[in-house]
Amino acid sequence: MLDSRTIEIVKSTVPLLESANTALTEHFYQRMFRDNPELKDVFNLSHQKTGRQPAALFAAVLAYAKNIDNPAVLSAAVERIAHKHTGFAIQPDQYTIVGHHLLETIRELAPDAATPEVIDAWARAYGALAEIFIGREEQLYQQSEQKDGGWRGHRTFVVKEKRVESEQIVSFLLAPADGGAVADYLPGQYLNLHLSNPELEHREYRQYSLCQAPNGREYRIAVKREPGGVASNFMHDRMQLGDQLQVLPPAGDFFMEVGTETPVVLISGGVGQTPMRAMLDQLLKQGHPADIHWLHACDNGAQHAFKQDIQQRRQAHANLYSHVWYRTPAETDLPPEDYDALGLMELNAVKDRIHLDGAHYYFCGPLPFMAMVKDTLTGWGIAKEQLHYEVFGPHQQL
Ligand SMILES: Cc1cc2nc3c(=O)[nH]c(=O)nc-3n(C[C@H](O)[C@H](O)[C@H](O)COP(=O)(O)OP(=O)(O)OC[C@H]3O[C@@H](n4cnc5c(N)ncnc54)[C@H](O)[C@@H]3O)c2cc1C
Ligand code: HEM
Repeated sequence: MLDSRTIEIVKSTVPLLESANTALTEHFYQRMFRDNPELKDVFNLSHQKTGRQPAALFAAVLAYAKNIDNPAVLSAAVERIAHKHTGFAIQPDQYTIVGHHLLETIRELAPDAATPEVIDAWARAYGALAEIFIGREEQLYQQSEQKDGGWRGHRTFVVKEKRVESEQIVSFLLAPADGGAVADYLPGQYLNLHLSNPELEHREYRQYSLCQAPNGREYRIAVKREPGGVASNFMHDRMQLGDQLQVLPPAGDFFMEVGTETPVVLISGGVGQTPMRAMLDQLLKQGHPADIHWLHACDNGAQHAFKQDIQQRRQAHANLYSHVWYRTPAETDLPPEDYDALGLMELNAVKDRIHLDGAHYYFCGPLPFMAMVKDTLTGWGIAKEQLHYEVFGPHQQL
């Protein structure tokens, strides 16, 4: 428990934090990577270059300072960050390093405001938060380890199948090299790969959503080639059948938990369909009796991954409906066989079908796409508890 004086001092630094904004976390990361370059093998450096991780950390630090007297407000964020951390195998001793650089950053950026009392209050506040993370992360590590087929830390997997799913998306079937079982996961969760190879400047952690229901034997992920992307190009061009890679246990706080009476609407743009595929697979395997809607948007037939699979499932399940939008169909792409509507996804066009009592909506895709989905559904009066989304990168509020 933090004392009231510490809480008061930390809250008094909110205007200071706001005026520094992401310069605070950019400075923090610069000094941390300078003094602890080994952490370059832990962090996703592309998220540093694009500024998305400094922005995510700044949002978390500011939210903590603002709500330090009301920690319940922070619990969802703490849960998400703890899951993210376990994907990078973050260890308790690393909290000391991060804490040191955070306090030094405050000292360096605001030498006048950073009185010994302020630094002391922030040290206590940081320590309390670090303790919460360390405790929750240890619980998650233990949960992963204790599951049937579970493990802790890195485990060697082998590529059992590499399959082209579209012009830009390749899926990989991964099984443990030790021949053992693999832990179940909740549909929507992701797998963490730790890639290392002489061709890569640093070891790279990357997350990939599991794209089929759990089966106890192997995992399937699907990777989109990103222009200039370090890991995705490596996976597409270099990773071959029989190759080994290091995998951390499934994680993530984005998952589907619905009762049998709940209609489910799965909405995706491009490769954002991967977590939705695991959800769909699970619902169909369980014989989910309520309606299931599959809404997907992509460029055209060449970019439309898993097209046949969805078409076959639709024929086999009377309660599965699908609606697909193509932005720039090729001449050979023909409605209704290949797609249903031209242009960007327009949810109002299917409102009568998907605005259902008690439905839960899961969505994933580029940020502007998800913002559109959230705004439209919220505009229809759907409660935020029924909306669930995943960001393929450092978290951002929509
Ligand atoms: C929870 C979660 C689930 C995910 N699931 C999937 C999934 O199922 N399938 C999937 O394909 N991906 C998924 N991702 C994304 C995935 O983890 C990787 O981020 C993605 O594959 C890109 O990695 P990369 O190494 O190829 O690209 P990076 O090298 O990380 O680059 C990413 C992008 O940033 C750009 N960039 C890099 N450096 C700079 C710079 N200096 N300035 C400007 N731009 C720059 C690159 O050009 C590229 O377009 C998921 C991410 C998360 C967090
Ligand atoms: C109290 C201390 C900490 C806070 C408030 C914090 C906050 C965050 C936040 C907000 C994210 C983004 C989460 C998301 O995208 O959902 C994140 C990711 C991450 N954190 Fe922490 N963190 C802390 C400590 C640490 C420590 C000690 C380490 C270990 C070195 C660490 C390593 C990472 C890594 C590697 C990521 C992923 C980065 C990426 O995807 O680019 N964090 N953290």
